[in-house]
Amino acid sequence: MESRQRWEQIRRNEHRRKKAKQRLLIASAFVLVVGIIFGSILGGAIGKGPLKKEVKALTEKLQEAEKAAVETAKQSEKHENLEDAELPWNLVLVNKWNEMEEGYVPELTEVAEGYEVDSRIADAVKEMLSDAKEAGLNPIICSAYRSLDKQEELFDDNMKEKVRNGMGYYDAYMEASTMVAVPGTSEHALGLAVDIVSIDNQMLDESQEETAEAKWLIENCHKYGFILRYPNGTTDITGIIYEPWHYRYVGVEIATEITELGVTFEEYLEEHYEP
Ligand code: DAL
Ligand code: ZN
Repeated sequence: MESRQRWEQIRRNEHRRKKAKQRLLIASAFVLVVGIIFGSILGGAIGKGPLKKEVKALTEKLQEAEKAAVETAKQSEKHENLEDAELPWNLVLVNKWNEMEEGYVPELTEVAEGYEVDSRIADAVKEMLSDAKEAGLNPIICSAYRSLDKQEELFDDNMKEKVRNGMGYYDAYMEASTMVAVPGTSEHALGLAVDIVSIDNQMLDESQEETAEAKWLIENCHKYGFILRYPNGTTDITGIIYEPWHYRYVGVEIATEITELGVTFEEYLEEHYEP
């Protein structure tokens, strides 16, 4: 079977697995509620007997567990349903749990030779880069808008390399998806993301954060409407490794708020945009 067919199959299975997990959480919460009711009835029947204390403690534990299960189920639903929230174009969320609208292609404008972005953010990208250059730096764009085909090619290459190095297909899929967004879930396909590196260090790894260009961009990008989309230590929330080169446009006001709060885009949306 072709590598591409394999990852598409794994992707479908992963989607089904997530849905099943969500159903399981809701079912556990239900079972726990029934347990509490049963425990209370039992506690009442035992009356003042010596077992009453134990029943009470058990009921409390069940209540706590039920609360936790309901909360987790709610969070997981919230996470997956953010795509149903009414989000303006600059706040559209795509990540492992939220796919972009099928067939969506933004209107594009070139911002550097061979690199295009959503026309609505072209001026912001150009201004940010020209101000960085005025500050004596040499930032260069190494990726901007990517078609779905291009994303598929990148994902496929990344996964194939892992398989060549001896990894199983499932593990290769899971690891690749933390580095290259699963096709259909990349902000590059929205035209709202740019990867920017220093001319002196064009490596897409953590060493990028040490460059003067990354330092300047991380500090100033919000003034142009951008956020560093995948900050260090947030893989559990964003689904993606630390990328000190990927900047996402959200608009000056929100970018400034997100930066001041020190939260991820997902956390910001969960707090401000109830699905
Ligand atoms: N590397 C980022 C997550 C992307 O592929 O969109
Ligand atoms: Zn990127």
